Formats: sequence, structure tokens, C-alpha cells
Amino acid sequence: MKITIFGTGYVGLVTGACLAEVGNDILCVDIDEGKIEALKQGIIPIYEPDLDALVARNLAAGRLSFSTDAREGVEHGLLQFIAVGTPPDEDGSADLQHVLVVAETIAEHMNDYRVIVDKSTVPVGTADKVRETMAGVLAERGVDMDFDVVSNPEFLKEGAAVGDFMKPDRIIIGTDNARAAELLHQLYAPFNRNHDRVIAMDIRSAELTKYAANAMLATKISFMNELANLAEKLGADIEQVRHGIGADSRIGYAFIYPGCGYGGSCFPKDVSALEHTANQVGYQAQLLEAVEAVNRRQKQVLCQKIHAHFEGDLAGRRIALWGLAFKPNTDDMRDAPSRVLMEYLWEAGAEVVAFDPAAMDEAGRIYGEREDLVLVNTPEAAVQGADALAVVTEWNIFRSPDFHALRKALKSPVIFDGRNIYDPAQLRTDGFTYYGIGRNQENL
Ligand code: UDX
Repeated sequence: MKITIFGTGYVGLVTGACLAEVGNDILCVDIDEGKIEALKQGIIPIYEPDLDALVARNLAAGRLSFSTDAREGVEHGLLQFIAVGTPPDEDGSADLQHVLVVAETIAEHMNDYRVIVDKSTVPVGTADKVRETMAGVLAERGVDMDFDVVSNPEFLKEGAAVGDFMKPDRIIIGTDNARAAELLHQLYAPFNRNHDRVIAMDIRSAELTKYAANAMLATKISFMNELANLAEKLGADIEQVRHGIGADSRIGYAFIYPGCGYGGSCFPKDVSALEHTANQVGYQAQLLEAVEAVNRRQKQVLCQKIHAHFEGDLAGRRIALWGLAFKPNTDDMRDAPSRVLMEYLWEAGAEVVAFDPAAMDEAGRIYGEREDLVLVNTPEAAVQGADALAVVTEWNIFRSPDFHALRKALKSPVIFDGRNIYDPAQLRTDGFTYYGIGRNQENL
């Protein structure tokens, strides 16, 4: 099938490469010339396992191409995917201007039936706006042309995006039109392992499904973080509680890991956007507000623990940071807990020496040259002479360090474990002062 994808960000690029992999003819369009030139040479702008090989293979096979020419894009694909960004507006709502510009562009150039597929995470009602925008442009052109709009939200996780796309749990298709539904069924047939993964529904329900999934996952995390803080005050260990509740199949073990807060490009933005959508229709989403508030507070927890340990005396201290990305296997630092911690430490006059397996360039890009941020190339170099170590991202490389060497390298053997990856009892036996999340019962 011939398909055009507008937007070569995370979602657009993964979608394009994966749809090409199963034999479709994909043209990815973006207004960023530098990005398109790089992509034509197989240079990927994001860090995502397996994506570079996938893009290279499909480029070479001629199934995947890149262009800045919107007209060429509209001519190319029977299906026109919109996968551009929907950044948060100042008030937390999703900014739809990029989506609607693409809708206008498609309507300006189309000369035949097209199916517009909303892949970006967009508020409920956006498909209607896309339809209205396109109808307006077509009317201005004085042409009467048939098109359909489908909502097909993406559920991929950064760091596992290719696997998530190739082996989806479900494929949501929101449409009110049988012809469009049939095309989308055909397109996704190669991804139906064992049984049909497509769940078809009306457009607004499909749009809401995306927000509902992310909000539910964010809720699980905030719930566990709240319980972790409570466990600490009650002298209980949240990790044992986690085991205890996860065993209940109605609860399950997924997404109940307490930590220093959720970040990334989706959860913070989507919870806030859904809250905003609710307000717009006169409903106060109290649970969502709490999920967000708990997460904001959770990002302060490491700061508070460090403050308490050093009794506020942080000026001139050196704190080692393991992990900058908002989670492992990505270089993404959007809304990352590491940023809240670093900014707190700088404010308090401390120096940060940080290592991350993927996000060093990103940290340099965000913060530029500053004296109180030293980016080093190994975890060992980060801890050398540091007053304490804070683990913010649970990369595998941090899970089993040489604790003997670590203790010698640190000026004082203190670990703040923002992801509960270490065994507190073991560390205390090894001579460390250990702070985890929700597990400091010894401190009662
Ligand atoms: C998420 C959704 O999982 C995905 O389906 C959607 O399409 C986009 O948003 P992503 O943002 O890539 O994906 O990351 P995810 O792996 O879901 O983690 C999000 C955040 O939650 C991370 O900061 C992670 O550290 C945190 N998290 C996750 C926890 O704190 N505890 C958990 O138990 C799970």
C-alpha cells in the first residue's frame, strides 16, 4: 500500500519504518530540511534501539523515502498519516496547530480520495476539526472530493518502540466509515499475531482510549509513589508491599514500581491535556489532578532526602548522578526527574557530576556549558570524590556496580536510590548509608 506520513518525530519515524518493513511503500514528509537530508542518508535523529537498522534496510530496499515536498506527499499515499507533535499549550491543553496545518496541506493538494489517519495523540474531537478544516479548504478550492478521517492512536514506548509496533497488544481504529475501516484492517493484517489485534470503535472513543491508557498507567505509578511515601512514615517497605499486591492478578506487577516520578513525552503531557479537556466540558477530573500533583511532589523526594541528609549544607558539595534520561534505553530528558534534581542541587550551590549511557549529548544541549555540571564518560568517573551518589534512571549498567570500589571512590559512602534497584540491607552491610523510595524503616 502507498502511504505518506507527515512528521518524522518519534511516532512518525517508527510508524514509517515498521510499515515499510512489512512491504508497504512509505514516504515520510517533514518541514525540517536538515532532518530529512540526514534521514535520506540513514542518520536517525533519535536514540531508539533497532530503529537505525530498520530505516537503513528499508531505505536500501526502496520501500522508505523522505521528502520535504508536501505536494509529493499528498500525491503519494492513499493513506495520509498525521504524526506531528502536539506540544502542551501554556494552559496544559494540547496544541493542535501542527495537526491542523497538515490537514490544510492535504486538502490543498489532494486530487483524489484520501484517508487521513490521526496517529498523533490528540484531544477528543480532533478528527472532527481535521474534517472541518479540510472541508473548508476544499470548498475554497471549489472542489468536491471524498475523504475520510480515522483515529489510530499509537501506544509505543520509547526504548521499545520498534518491538511495540511490530508486536502490538492491540491496534485501535476509530472510524465511522466501512471503506476506511477495511483499508486500515488490511494495512495492519501483518501485525495480527495469532489473533486479530484490531479493535474498531467510533472516532471519539478511539481518541479517548489513548488518553485513558496513559492516564491509567500514570495513576498506577502515582498511587504507588503515594503508598511509598506512606510506607516510609509507617516503617513498612514498599518493595515488599509491591510484591504482595502484584500477586493479585487483578492488580498485576506491571507499572507499580515506585520511584522518583514519571517523566517523558507522554504521561505528564497527556494527563494534563485530559484534565484540561475535562475542564472544557465542565467536569473537574479530581483523580487526574491528584495523579499530577503526586507526581510533581515525587520529583522532589530525592531533593528532600539529600537536603535532610546534608542538613541543607550543600554549597560546594559534589553529587554524582547516575542516569539523566527519564527512563532507560532512551536519550529523552523531557520532564525527566533528573532535571528537577539537578536544578535543585545547583540552586543549593552543589556541583553535579553526571553519567548516562545515552543522554549526555541531550544534557549538554539542554543545559549548555556550565561550571556546576560535569558530564563524564563512565559511571566510575562520576563517583570519584563525590559526597554522595544519586541513582535517577535504572539503566542495567547501574544495577550491579563493584560496591567495594564504589565505596572507596566516594568521599562519603551515601547512596540515594531513586529507583529502588539496590538491596538496602546489603548496602548497609557494605558500609553505605542508603536511602531508597519508601523503604527506610530503619530510620523510624
Ligand atoms: C508511555 C506509554 O507506556 C506508551 O504506551 C505511550 O504510547 C507513551 O507513553 P513512555 O513515555 O515511552 O511510554 O515510557 P514508559 O515506559 O511508559 O514510562 C513512563 C514513565 O513512568 C517513566 O518515567 C518511568 O520511569 C515511569 N515508571 C514506569 C515508573 O515510575 N514506574 C513504573 O512502574 C513504570
